[in-house]
Amino acid sequence: TADLPEIVPGSETEININRAADILRTHTAPVAFPTETVYGLGASALDTRAVRQIFAAKNRPSDNPLIVHISSVSQLDRVLKSKVLAIYEKLIAKFWPGPLTIILPLPSNPDSDEPVISRACTPGQATFGVRMPAHIVARALIAVSDTPLAAPSANASTKPSPTTAAHVYADMHGRIPIILDGGNCEVGVESTVVDGTVSPPAVLRPGGVSVEMIREFGGEEWRDVVVGKSEAGKDESVRTPGMKYRHYSPQAKVVVFVGTGDGSEVVNAYLRNNTSRKIALLKSRQFDIEKWDTSISTQISFIKELGATGAEIARNLFSGLRDADERLLKDSANEGEPLIIVEGVSDADEGAAIMNRLRKAASEIYENGVLIVKDSH
Ligand code: TXA
Ligand code: MG
Repeated sequence: TADLPEIVPGSETEININRAADILRTHTAPVAFPTETVYGLGASALDTRAVRQIFAAKNRPSDNPLIVHISSVSQLDRVLKSKVLAIYEKLIAKFWPGPLTIILPLPSNPDSDEPVISRACTPGQATFGVRMPAHIVARALIAVSDTPLAAPSANASTKPSPTTAAHVYADMHGRIPIILDGGNCEVGVESTVVDGTVSPPAVLRPGGVSVEMIREFGGEEWRDVVVGKSEAGKDESVRTPGMKYRHYSPQAKVVVFVGTGDGSEVVNAYLRNNTSRKIALLKSRQFDIEKWDTSISTQISFIKELGATGAEIARNLFSGLRDADERLLKDSANEGEPLIIVEGVSDADEGAAIMNRLRKAASEIYENGVLIVKDSH
């Protein structure tokens, strides 16, 4: 069809996409596939049994709605019986295909009372989230199967999202029949979820498209976009579903430091009081362990540079958390509970998505001199 992105005919990629598409068309099992944000675990958004298999494989709470993935705007119209609302036109012209999810009213089937999209995708919602991924393997899979895919990230519920096929394998082996390996995810954090069905419009989840970009390219209505809950939606029961669940958590305790310079004062003081731990460090722009007490820096058994720019840090964040966790669990040379120290960033630009994930992963956050402690971990 005209929707098909360019995949070399007869290539291994095409053969594998056809295999996965067959599984999707017969609703036998969910399929893991690469997107530019994170790997997804997909099944037909039109079939309740298929969607339930996703929740089961991930062990995901069934009231957390799934994003529907399409390969073209015409598929939205033709298969999902939906239209892009005018308020989104500038945004999708700029950011589709790409890491932007828009919220639309749930379509009803013109010929029957049956919902077009399985209710299992959108538990209790009058709306659904939809995006067109940029990764060609994702779009080819959706186009070849001609099936809009409900697809959350392909990690086990609560774990950091997968940005490599190996991450998916680690969480999902034994639970799914196939993983399409498309290499490392370019963006590394999930899509930005925007809601233009409320006034003022809202960003429900910061992600691969920054709020600054939404304001700049969305047109007049998006200038005053609200981040988080929009006032207009206050009395709805769940405005930002998914927020109440534990997320992105390694097994190790995660402590995030923001605005603590090179770390030689605040982080050192923290670690002096936690000498009985195995420590990993994920650093970004400013931490300088040359300036830390050697008695502390020598205790750190794993150090990873997340990068200097927001885009780099976002790309390396989930794999950094997974790598640190794995190394600490294997570290038998040191005693004590595993601890991952992360250098956070400011909330500007890509920072909002990065800090949103880190705040959920962390049990303690030192933010500009204030210790914020969470009651569970
Ligand atoms: O980048 C991504 O978006 C990845 C890749 C695989 O495409 N997918 C992803 O899907 O993150 P998922 O299912 O984990 O994201 C679901 C989240 C919900 O927790 C909620 O924040 C938002 O998307 N969402 C989905 N449907 C919604 C709705 N009807 N109303 C409000 N928020 C919704
Ligand atoms: Mg997820």
